Amino acid sequence: MTEKNHHFSFKIAAHINELDAADADLLQQARQLTAVAYAPYSKFHVASVALLANGAMVRGTNQENASYPVGICAERSLLAAVGTQYPNEIIRTIAITYQPQNEKSNTPISPCGMCRQSLLEYEARVNHPIRLLLAGAEGPVYIIDTVKHLLPLAFGSGHLL
Ligand code: THU
Repeated sequence: MTEKNHHFSFKIAAHINELDAADADLLQQARQLTAVAYAPYSKFHVASVALLANGAMVRGTNQENASYPVGICAERSLLAAVGTQYPNEIIRTIAITYQPQNEKSNTPISPCGMCRQSLLEYEARVNHPIRLLLAGAEGPVYIIDTVKHLLPLAFGSGHLL
């Protein structure tokens, strides 16, 4: 029997001020975008903004539904928009943040399992890593170099062959 270890490292900026101008702008855009999330049931507003290799910014927010499972997360609504508006364009960085209605938002969230799978598919599709900036409305920012780090032993197209 052998043992394998999975290990990854990521950076933590204590505050948005520690980011370079492009990353800070992206996160700022995402923080503002939480206002338009449609989350009347969870009251947990999530927003994500992608910076593409062609310089375009694409936005996504969570869109809930009275039939709860029909709702979609911010990250997957973003990916649907990118795949439609800029098919096969490289995504350099995605900033993800949230604002609950009556709670503080000062610790990063990270994408749910379904969104990790979806983000990973986009990395594979264009063969390029996506950087993630994860943050609350204030406080520290996690900087993760690739979605691969968040989904070890992932299922992918290679398993279908
Ligand atoms: N949600 C996202 O949009 N992204 C995440 O990374 C975590 C969860 C949404 C789904 C649901 O609308 C609300 O947040 C509460 O789970």
